[in-house]
Amino acid sequence: MKFGAFDDQRKEYVINTPQTPYPWINYLGNEQFFGLISNTAGGYTFYRDARLRRLTRYRYNNIPLDTGGRYYYLRDHDNGDFWTPGWMPVKRELDFYECRHGLGYTSITGERGGISVTQLAFIPLGYNGEVHRLTVKNTSNETKKVSLFSFAEFCLWNAQDDMTNFQRNLSTGEVEVLDSVIYHKTEYRERRNHYAFYSVNRDIDGFDTDRESFVGLYNGLHEPQVVVAGRASNSVASGWSPIGSHEVTMKLAPGEEQSMIFVLGYVELPEEEKWEAPSVINKKPALEMIDKFATDADVDRALAELATYWDGLLSKYQIQSGDDKLNRMVNIWNPYQCMVTFNMSRSASYFESGIGRGMGFRDSNQDLLGFVHQIPERARERILDIAATQFEDGSAYHQYQPLTKKGNNEVGSGFNDDPLWLVSGTAAYIKETGDLSILDEQVPFDSNPDNTATLFEHLRRSFYHVVHNLGPHGLPLIGRADWNDCLNLNCFSKEPGESFQTTANIEGRVAESVFIAGLFVFVGPDFAEICRMRGLDADATDALDWIEKMRKTTLEHGFDGDWFLRAYDHYGEKIGSKENAEGQIFIEPQGMCVMAGIGVEEGLAAKALTSVEERLDTKYGIVLQQPPYSKYYLNLGEISSYPPGYKENAGIFCHNNPWIMIAETVLGHGDRAFEVYSKIAPAYLEEISEVHRMEPYVYSQMIAGKDAVRHGEAKNSWLTGTAAWNYVAITQAILGIQADFRGLKVDPCIPSAWDGYEITRVFRGDTYVIRVSNPNHVEKGVARITVDGQPIQGNVIAPVGDGGVHQVEVVLG
Ligand code: GLC
Ligand code: GLC
Repeated sequence: MKFGAFDDQRKEYVINTPQTPYPWINYLGNEQFFGLISNTAGGYTFYRDARLRRLTRYRYNNIPLDTGGRYYYLRDHDNGDFWTPGWMPVKRELDFYECRHGLGYTSITGERGGISVTQLAFIPLGYNGEVHRLTVKNTSNETKKVSLFSFAEFCLWNAQDDMTNFQRNLSTGEVEVLDSVIYHKTEYRERRNHYAFYSVNRDIDGFDTDRESFVGLYNGLHEPQVVVAGRASNSVASGWSPIGSHEVTMKLAPGEEQSMIFVLGYVELPEEEKWEAPSVINKKPALEMIDKFATDADVDRALAELATYWDGLLSKYQIQSGDDKLNRMVNIWNPYQCMVTFNMSRSASYFESGIGRGMGFRDSNQDLLGFVHQIPERARERILDIAATQFEDGSAYHQYQPLTKKGNNEVGSGFNDDPLWLVSGTAAYIKETGDLSILDEQVPFDSNPDNTATLFEHLRRSFYHVVHNLGPHGLPLIGRADWNDCLNLNCFSKEPGESFQTTANIEGRVAESVFIAGLFVFVGPDFAEICRMRGLDADATDALDWIEKMRKTTLEHGFDGDWFLRAYDHYGEKIGSKENAEGQIFIEPQGMCVMAGIGVEEGLAAKALTSVEERLDTKYGIVLQQPPYSKYYLNLGEISSYPPGYKENAGIFCHNNPWIMIAETVLGHGDRAFEVYSKIAPAYLEEISEVHRMEPYVYSQMIAGKDAVRHGEAKNSWLTGTAAWNYVAITQAILGIQADFRGLKVDPCIPSAWDGYEITRVFRGDTYVIRVSNPNHVEKGVARITVDGQPIQGNVIAPVGDGGVHQVEVVLG
């Protein structure tokens, strides 16, 4: 069942009922200021850091689930009827409802009783505020007198503290109100140099800033007493819970439409400019911001700029194929999600509270694979930030805070796959841009500016961190966990609530990871090539020797007859082996080892992928392992804590399905690669939205596996490495356009039934229009390529470098 439809022309998903199977959300903001907004106008805003600079309050785990947002109540004075255009929270039946989630904006329209209200929300480029344009139209034949009441509830900045420290917080709230602007200045009297404001571009008929006065102590947001009464109470918050609400009353002739612009903004001031008079905050910067959105023309202009910005980003890779679903994933929604994960990492979604994790070392490097071609300069900066949280021995903080950019001590390090992802992210950047100068940047260890080395040296430490941490079989030690955060082989936790990731009760120099071995062989050659490009041939040779050694070791100690083993545990026992009663086969090493080419010549790679298909595949995607763990295993950790079929315990973990797609392309299996792709790509799941439940325009982290009661149901949409890896799998491995150190490589591996497709790819300043045709209906193999009519040797297009448009004909066969 569908709950909306794609509007490819406008690059929007159009939801036609507020009662979607779960709140379907969108992200606003691209730089410093961000908002989450659901199809019923729920959500919140923050400046840079969802934990430390939260502007508006949001209650996770609420009942109903998605209550709290930027709400606009419409009240009809003739009959007292009141409602909200997004349906929630009032839930009055609407005569018309539509939500359009676009790229960086959301527009919600509701109509009832002859009044139509559209709430258009976005964050303009270069602007630290959320703009809401409210358009109120009288669609009836009679004159109407109506009021609009805005509502936003302020968070007392630190979202963690806001939800716990009530003995203090209920006494600190402070506001100022002047003209049509409400200023939220809690804690500004002391150490904060920032405040929030909420304005509207016209005279108001009243306001409220005290939650209890507006809502009523015994009311919910569905029936605020001020809206029920139809009159603002002009309350001024003093402690308790500051809010911002404006009352705008208007008379509308039949067919008349009025619009007004609300701004919810953030201001930061130098210490000496904080006040304009004792206890009176300096409002100048806020007024300047408000002034920028005085008219509809200002809004339209900013929206046009936003559209141009997104068109620019998306234009880097565009496909035209006969498959609409593929087109919309590749051209719009997958790169859009990649940009959102760039901005958010794993911090703020409807499943990530914004107060938990900061930026993941592993996650951020992998996210980069999905957006590096869109914003290479910001990828460069990101790489340097990440590298600065590495330690001298090559290990790394697992997470860092975006505001301070410092490693997170509570989580620490010891995730032994982390270092390698830095090599992978940096290599992707160099392949995209050809910019080798990044390698010479001086980058701190452990964020200490007095202890730095070149980025190249950081990569070397990453690579050799694996070499220096090998276990009894010569495979990499796993540490706290590898990519699978829940395979905690040194944890042995018996205490409820202990963190599986940070608890290490065992010394930990026995448990080994076959996955890291595969990753080492997959990523290592890029490091060797980088050495070579720097003229360090001996280093390159040394690296390649280690890689070759690892390849052999993996075949010798990491293969189990029909598939790759997952790991050796603390006792040196096999994990992911047919000898095990549960968890006999895992997806990750099959994907990564075959991607690395391990066992391809020997025919073992093909065997491994056949085993995946036979044992792990389902109609909704490939599960993480089988059989699931039916009980808690002390020696395995968190993976066995989940009920069978969820999350890492045999859920369909969408992040690693693309590894199988890519692995299949290594073996030339285009039909199978695309089958795996289309099983989990959200646009292909739109019609089963009632089962899938999450947004049909973005990937979710997990879909419940076949052992789960709710097989096929997704969770954790938006912030997941799934976005980047699926983007890599489809655009690079399947459609076959790959940035390489020496140019643009063309190596498609597609379903044999396809006749061809066209891709426009911007690469190092040139635009390549690449027409791939498949006259012999093969799955893989390039017969010939011409660039501007000239045949080329091999399948790597050397950068032309004239900034022009170049025609590339590719014939498969
Ligand atoms: C989550 C984490 C990611 C990890 C994965 C598997 O998505 O963010 O770092 O690799 O789970 O455990
Ligand atoms: C939990 C999740 C896992 C995630 C980790 C991050 O273990 O199951 O997916 O990677 O938390 O800390």
